[in-house]
Amino acid sequence: MSSQPELLNRRIVLGLSGGVACYKAADLLRELVRAGARVQVVMTEAATQFITPVTMQALSGEPVVVSQWDAREPNNMAHINLTRAADAILVAPASADFIAQIAQGRADELLALLCLARPLSRCALLLAPAMNREMWAHPATQRNVAQVQRDGAFVLGPAAGDQACGEIGDGRMLEAIELRDELVAFFQPKLLAGRSILITAGPTFEAIDPVRGITNHSSGKMGFALARAAAEAGARVTLVAGPVHLPTPRHVRRIDVTSARQMHDAVLPQAPRHDIFVATAAVADWRPASAGEEKLKKDGSGRPPAFELVENPDILATVARLPPEQRPWCVGFAAESHDLLRHAREKLQRKGIPLIVGNLGPATFGRDDNQLVLVDAHGEVELPVASKLTLARELVRVMAERYEARAA
Ligand code: CTP
Repeated sequence: MSSQPELLNRRIVLGLSGGVACYKAADLLRELVRAGARVQVVMTEAATQFITPVTMQALSGEPVVVSQWDAREPNNMAHINLTRAADAILVAPASADFIAQIAQGRADELLALLCLARPLSRCALLLAPAMNREMWAHPATQRNVAQVQRDGAFVLGPAAGDQACGEIGDGRMLEAIELRDELVAFFQPKLLAGRSILITAGPTFEAIDPVRGITNHSSGKMGFALARAAAEAGARVTLVAGPVHLPTPRHVRRIDVTSARQMHDAVLPQAPRHDIFVATAAVADWRPASAGEEKLKKDGSGRPPAFELVENPDILATVARLPPEQRPWCVGFAAESHDLLRHAREKLQRKGIPLIVGNLGPATFGRDDNQLVLVDAHGEVELPVASKLTLARELVRVMAERYEARAA
């Protein structure tokens, strides 16, 4: 299972309409090209006031088209030629005026014209709005946005924040990397559409005193990759994360916790509201019986302090024992240092779950790649070394298949 560039051979028309956010389009173009996409840039006249076609041509390696009367096209039909082989048109920035044109099916300029002339069933239209917050909130814009969505376009963002005009509010175009990720997600099969998934991720931290604690090397990367892959597949995702410094994947609801007991208390009320539960967290097995309120001090004797450990609740086993009407379909992870298969199989039994994913903890903690073995009652399947995101997408495919088979 190789980890290919995420947009390899995707043919994208990147459209720019007029707006200050055109300054982000150059970065976006670089991200798309880096991700393997073949990008044709089309700009409106207004967009050329904000960024030059020279820049966009240099970055895409293709002449930029601005006018529908561009005589370089042999048949002079740029609006047809440009979309017939395209997988998607991404308009970023999409101005209020541009969205209004699309809502009305107008074809004042080449970019709007080619959106209208695109093959609806094969070439998706994605719009990244960018405008002042008052323009975004205006009923006319909201009406137009609702209309273009009804007509099948996808609206990405906008984000809230500082605006070029000095105001603060909704209307900022998403950042280049966010738009790239939205496009990548768009092309993923929607295997979990209509489903909900609850995921635990990362280590837990068990306090000894206010400044020290017991934790482990889990980075949370596998669980976060899984949350992203599940969201890309169309699921509603809740991620209960231990103490990690990873960005929240887009469209994922995140609940931050520190200790195993907090993770347990966050998961339990959520579990019956989700179809699938995946426990990727490396939950600390034990915690100090009582955490001191003050920092433990050396007493001069040379002897370290003694403290008792007590066992933490097993979150996965607790969820797996919920009554059937409250119980999500459960998947566990087994992080082992040795005898992976034997331990994974033993955990499958002990926790009473249908599927467990084994990995070698010390070999994967903190890394961006991993190697998995899926173990169920019938046997095991190995997923060879790949990026955690690639493995997460494969795992989503397997889980979707098995979940549906179970529900049938
Ligand atoms: N798990 C959990 N709550 C715990 C301990 C583990 O939910 N208190 C979950 C993990 O998220 C994982 C699975 O149980 O999905 C197995 O975790 P692991 O740490 O590999 O195994 P343990 O059950 O802790 O057993 P051992 O420490 O003996 O290996």
